[in-house]
Amino acid sequence: MNDQASGLRSMARGGAQPGSLKSESLSGTSGAPRVIAVTSGKGGVGKTSIVLNTAIALASGGARVVVLDADLGLGNIDVMLGIVPRYNLAHVAAGEVSLADVEVSGPGGIRIVPCGSGVTSLLRLPESERAVLVSALAALEHEADFIIVDTGAGLSPGVVGFLAAVEEVIVVTTPEPTSIADAYATVKVVSYENPAAPVMLVVNMARDLQEAEDAAEKITLVAKRFLSVDLTLLGFVPRDPFVAKAVMQQAPFVVRYPSCPASRAVGEIAERLQGRRWEGASFQGFAGHGLAGFLGKIAARS
Ligand SMILES: Nc1ncnc2c1ncn2[C@@H]1O[C@H](COP(=O)(O)OP(=O)(O)OP(=O)(O)O)[C@@H](O)[C@H]1O
Ligand SMILES: [Mg+2]
Repeated sequence: MNDQASGLRSMARGGAQPGSLKSESLSGTSGAPRVIAVTSGKGGVGKTSIVLNTAIALASGGARVVVLDADLGLGNIDVMLGIVPRYNLAHVAAGEVSLADVEVSGPGGIRIVPCGSGVTSLLRLPESERAVLVSALAALEHEADFIIVDTGAGLSPGVVGFLAAVEEVIVVTTPEPTSIADAYATVKVVSYENPAAPVMLVVNMARDLQEAEDAAEKITLVAKRFLSVDLTLLGFVPRDPFVAKAVMQQAPFVVRYPSCPASRAVGEIAERLQGRRWEGASFQGFAGHGLAGFLGKIAARS
């Protein structure tokens, strides 16, 4: 396994690009990209921060990462990076531009695809436009190891559409009881809409390890008891002032502050995510694997 932390440190120094850090990378060896939705019940729990920084951490380990920014909220990825995309997927669907015109290259070589209202309202697009969009996105099949979707919060039809179509789901919560209750509601919807998808949990903004463990235990127990869902604990990200500082500077914290507690935690999450593919059969081989499965399910819902 690559040393994620050394990759991040080298990026912070402006040194080697992540691509050159590739060694016996786990990525790219199995063909289909993993399509992972990052979601939450309550808003403002840190999804976008975790998506962006985990994507960069994965890239620093040699993975090819595409982020679909389907979050229509104010704090979305382009704002976090201080970039202003000209086009989004709605323009692709309308046949005005190609996917290459829409995507923005981010730190560490990650590729960011702003969805605008295009994909969130994909379910409502006319058949011809949807077909254009699906075939444009299908080009990513051989170009990415991870496609990470920042869904935005809540359970709107657009968000549920993504949760039903992806291969794996990461639910982010804070230790607050309201956030845990809303995260549970999200897990419940995933268990109905996409029972085959592994659901992973990230507890963000905990004061200390005890608070994070308590929160994880609460939601894990109720998910098991009432939904028969085995939540996988993907990681804890502590409340860390460097996160807000980096947001103010419109720079990802893993790049700007690679040794801060949140960066170390996100590095561990990325390593765990990469390792998971090889851990067991449950992450592979079920019907509709990879991008083709995702696009097929998205199309089938409409
Ligand atoms: N671990 C952390 N420590 C301190 N502050 C954090 C942490 N994670 C996120 N934040 C702060 O919380 C705020 C919300 O984060 P973010 O925008 O990532 O959440 P979100 O879940 O994507 O929100 P939304 O639901 O609006 O899309 C940001 O200002 C960010 O700086
Ligand atoms: Mg967000």
